[in-house]
Amino acid sequence: MLVKDILKGGTLLLIATGFWACGRGGSHPSHAMGMMGMGRGRMMGHMAKVSVKRHRLYMHGGLPAEYSGKTNPYEPSPELLKRGEEIYTQQCKACHGENGKGDGPAAKGLDPKPSDLSFVMKRHIATDEYLFWTISEGGKPIGSAMPAYKDILSEKDRWAVILYLRDRFGR
Ligand code: HEC
Repeated sequence: MLVKDILKGGTLLLIATGFWACGRGGSHPSHAMGMMGMGRGRMMGHMAKVSVKRHRLYMHGGLPAEYSGKTNPYEPSPELLKRGEEIYTQQCKACHGENGKGDGPAAKGLDPKPSDLSFVMKRHIATDEYLFWTISEGGKPIGSAMPAYKDILSEKDRWAVILYLRDRFGR
């Protein structure tokens, strides 16, 4: 009688422990989903900010030789920064947004989405060669909607907008 009660108690305890472990340990479906959701959310947050395909291409030697090692021949000056701002407003803002977040009115429905330049410009990837290539050739190498600016903007104007992006978002 007593032994039976103890056994029953033990079984109940085991079941209770099982539930507890299940609830906390990650094997419960809703918990696992919650973790996956969190992971995905974090990844998507990052993915939405940067141009993943472009970064991959650049890292794997996809930078055309003509852009390799290019550096900005201009120093920032009030005139060039002003010119850069003008270009950003006229050419980039519609997609990349007022504050560089990639949320301009023309960004709607684009896949991949315009990058968050206020984020990208603080990363190591934002080298002169990378930015000059991206702006010159646009989205063609990776199939995005970003226009190529090599026939729209002079070299100096492309460097001016890079100076502006660094000044505004790079720190
Ligand atoms: C029609 C929309 C559109 C316009 C206009 C546009 N972009 Fe983009 N841009 C994109 C998209 C989409 C991406 C992400 C895919 C890619 O890398 O091509 C992107 C990516 C970039 C990147 C790469 C960022 C990263 O994640 O590494 C830079 C830098 C950039 N744009 C700068 C500019 C500048 C500067 C201008 C203006 C001279 C401009 N863009 C105009 C759509 C646009």
